[in-house]
Amino acid sequence: MAPSATITETEAPSLPLSLKARVFSPYKEMAPVKYDRDVEEGKTAAKPAKYPNYLPTWNPNQKYPPLQPFEHCEHGKDADTSYPELLAEGVAVNHLTPTIGTEIQGVQLSTLSNAGKDQLARYVAERKVVAFRDQDFADLPIDKALEFGGYFGRHHIHPTSGSPEGHPEIHLVHRGEGDKTHETFFENRTSSVAWHSDVSYEQQPPGTTFLYILDKPETGGDTLFVDAVEAYNRLSPLFRERLHGLYATHSGIEQVNASVAKGSIKRREPVVSVHPIVRTHPATGEKALYVNPQFTRDIVGLKKEESDTILKFLYDHLAYGADFQARVKWAEGTVVVWDNRVTQHSALLDWKSGQRRHLARITPQAERPYQTPYKPSP
Ligand code: SIN
Repeated sequence: MAPSATITETEAPSLPLSLKARVFSPYKEMAPVKYDRDVEEGKTAAKPAKYPNYLPTWNPNQKYPPLQPFEHCEHGKDADTSYPELLAEGVAVNHLTPTIGTEIQGVQLSTLSNAGKDQLARYVAERKVVAFRDQDFADLPIDKALEFGGYFGRHHIHPTSGSPEGHPEIHLVHRGEGDKTHETFFENRTSSVAWHSDVSYEQQPPGTTFLYILDKPETGGDTLFVDAVEAYNRLSPLFRERLHGLYATHSGIEQVNASVAKGSIKRREPVVSVHPIVRTHPATGEKALYVNPQFTRDIVGLKKEESDTILKFLYDHLAYGADFQARVKWAEGTVVVWDNRVTQHSALLDWKSGQRRHLARITPQAERPYQTPYKPSP
């Protein structure tokens, strides 16, 4: 099987049996999802959303063909790394940890020129995740926010998530006022931590990614990030070398099946892609671990027990690496920008049940993951 290929149903015989069963399980008939906007628009006692234009809708008529390959332009490559526009005089920069995470105050992202956007892409690739405070993003017309995000790559349209009416390119994260789902969630789970790199099952998964807050709980609902470059660098040279040349499958099937099973939407047929376990960032040249427990399934060519053991070690290594992780606290007006190629993240379901948490994500796709040769010192 070719590296980084997307598997189609006709190629299915070459898949391991266990994966094949998961991949091509039949879909149930879809039922349209109705979202009760009365509560959200303040027609009942519940506190209305601050940004009703960003309330989620799931339109069953949105149907898209398979994603086609496109040429990604990596703007971070062209950036002036003295960051004259992004980090101009007067901009306050506060590093959260030595390797990952920075908070920035004093620059308005929406006013950046293209050169400033190049600097943004590069700076985020270097710092992995950056929280920009006091931004006007949420107040821009949605088209304008999308225009800004579209500079960084082709907009990804999520196969199942809620989106603002007429804007399927926006991925919404929303738990409404009065929502009690976390109470039932913890009936059979001990933790809500779910590390992942967004939609890594796509043949060209996202790079520079934007998440902005619309409504937040009083406290809690932070987002965790892990530096997948530092995670790679911490491994022994022998282990790093062994990982080079290995590829893993990433599946979007289960996400779509879960959506369909609960009567929700499927905008596009799901895919399984094969990506290198170690990928190289096109602007920085850094190498990062690129497997995550949410979407990665098997290491190609290994037996199940071998694959499961290595993947579990890598997931544990990323999850326990508190010394290469950062935690972002949301505040009104915050836009968090991260590079999905070199990080993983997890939302936390820890806030007082019943309060609204509402965010919007813009997820530009990037290049097909590739690997450069192993070098003893990273
Ligand atoms: C995401 O996974 O992109 C959203 C993270 C969050 O809700 O904090």
